[in-house]
This record gives sequence, structure tokens and C-alpha cells, in this order.
Amino acid sequence: MPSPRIASPELQQEMDACREKINKTLKHLLPESDLAEQPLFEAMRYGVLNGGKRLRPFLVLQGAKLFGVDEMRARRVGAAIELVHSYSLIHDDLPAMDDADKRRGKPSLHKAYDDATAILAGDALLTMAFEVLADEETHADPRVRVELVKELASAAGPHGMVGGQMLDLIAEGESFDIGTISRLQRLKTGKLISFCCEAGAILGKANPAHRQALRNYAQDLGLAFQVTDDLLDVEGNAIEMGKDTGKDADAGKATFVTELGLEAARSRAEMLSAQAKRHLRCFDGGRGNMLCDVADYVLARRQ
Ligand code: IPE
Ligand code: IPE
Ligand code: MG
Ligand code: MG
Ligand code: MG
Repeated sequence: MPSPRIASPELQQEMDACREKINKTLKHLLPESDLAEQPLFEAMRYGVLNGGKRLRPFLVLQGAKLFGVDEMRARRVGAAIELVHSYSLIHDDLPAMDDADKRRGKPSLHKAYDDATAILAGDALLTMAFEVLADEETHADPRVRVELVKELASAAGPHGMVGGQMLDLIAEGESFDIGTISRLQRLKTGKLISFCCEAGAILGKANPAHRQALRNYAQDLGLAFQVTDDLLDVEGNAIEMGKDTGKDADAGKATFVTELGLEAARSRAEMLSAQAKRHLRCFDGGRGNMLCDVADYVLARRQ
């Protein structure tokens, strides 16, 4: 049976092209090494270059396009975010966290190497991301570089992803209300996605109204994305997704699905996706169309 179409042909084409470009930038940033500590570099390459949809860099490139930003700069920012995202997945899969054996269709990093190497590879990728952003190649204006560093640090740190991961651990065996689950998801996934959507506006020194529109879009998109991740954990196909399913239920995690049920969780994701698109109306002449398509894609995705 042919697999159902999950994105418009234009979106699919653009996402494929973006994936290739970002993979090239990431390979350039993560060269092979023959130093004594070479296993660290090999593990970093394994954790980053092992597949992935590269949705976050896609959001960066599309946002940057709205403001006429040089694509090479946007690619570096997209790659830096992918370094942080990959680190978060490596640590998320550790036995002390989700204890997941598979990631992106292959053994998770601690399975392919060991726990200590997985911790160090994650640490190295996280710190490296800031080195990439702080480099002059990313933007000529140091104020722009500082803003990128500050915003990524804030999205990834205790008031962002790491705080969300802590709440996620607490959610094991808890019955959180919907407000707390929304907050958990906004922190663990939403903040980084918000930074992706705003990065183009920072690079292009966009006006506050446009930047706010992208921030609003990102809030709804990020939540729709994570609700879908929770739905896929229940309904998805492990082969297509490249990771084991049923992990949230096994850990007794409170998610939108456990608190609302499948149908209401799906309706909530649909509502969020529709709301995300409405925030893009200020981009005239069809300039926001591709980002609108992304809002459809996050709902329909199978991986
Ligand atoms: C998985 O993110 C982790 C979540 C935040 C839900 P993705 O679904 O974007 O994973 P990759 O990068 O495509 O593997
Ligand atoms: C992971 O969320 C989010 C981060 C790594 C910040 P999940 O634990 O739901 O992601 P998957 O399902 O393992 O990809
Ligand atoms: Mg997790
Ligand atoms: Mg996980
Ligand atoms: Mg999940």
C-alpha cells in the first residue's frame, strides 16, 4: 500500500532540500578526528548524523527567508539548534531518563557506545552549539550573535527544555492537570521550537510585530507537535518512527493522551495547528504559505 501523503509536494521538496543542506553544514562542523579522544568525536557524529527530520532547522531557514537573511547564516543557526536537539535526545534516551534502546531507526547512542560516552557526547554537542552561534561567520553584528546565544540558552536551560524534562520525570506516576501538562510540553519542546521560529527574525532584525507573530505561531506549533508526539507514542508505527512506541504508557507518564483521551488530544492538536496558521496572516503575498504547510505537516506526520 503506498504510504499516505504527509505534506504538500512543495513542502516535501523544500524539507528534503533543507535536510541535505543542514546535513552538509553539520558534517562540516563535526569532522572526523584521529586524536586519542576520537571515540567522543565519533559518538558526536553518530548522535547527530544518524537521520532525523531536521524540522527545527527548516523552521529557521523559512523564518530567515521572510526577512531576506543570507542562507549560509541561517544554516549555521539551524545546525546549532540541531546540535542542541541531538544532545537532548541522547540524554533523553539514557537509562536514567527514558531508557530507550532505539533512536532514528538505530541503536540509541548509549547502546551503540556506553552511558559515559553518551553523557559526554551530549555535553560536547550542547557546548559546541554556542561556539557556532558566537562565531563571526554566523552574523557580522556582535549584538545579533549575543542575542542568538542568550535566546538559545534560555530556550534550552532550566526555564526551557531542561526544566520541561524535569517536569516530564515528575509526570511519571502523577496525574497532572491539563494546565500543568501544557506547561511541561511548552518547556520541553515548545521553547526550542519558538527559538527556531524567531531566529530568522533575530538574524534579519525584523520589526517587533513580525517577531511577535512568529513567536505566537511557534507557541501553537510547538504544542501541536508535542501532542502529536504523544499520540504517535500510542498510535504510531515503531518502524516508521525509528523509535519504540508505548514508552510513555510503560513509564506511567501523564500526557495529553492520558488526561484527555486520544480523540480529544487529536482535536486539541488540530485546533492548535489552525490557530498557528492564523498568526501568519501578517505575512502578505503568500510569504507565510510554507510555514502554514508546516502546521498541517506536524499533525499528519507519521514519524
Ligand atoms: C523528537 O523530536 C523529540 C521531541 C521533542 C518530541 P523529533 O520528532 O523532531 O525528532 P527527529 O529529530 O526527527 O529525530
Ligand atoms: C523528548 O521528549 C524531549 C526532549 C528530548 C527535550 P520525548 O521523550 O517525548 O521524546 P521521544 O518520544 O523520546 O522522541
Ligand atoms: Mg522523554
Ligand atoms: Mg523519550
Ligand atoms: Mg515522546
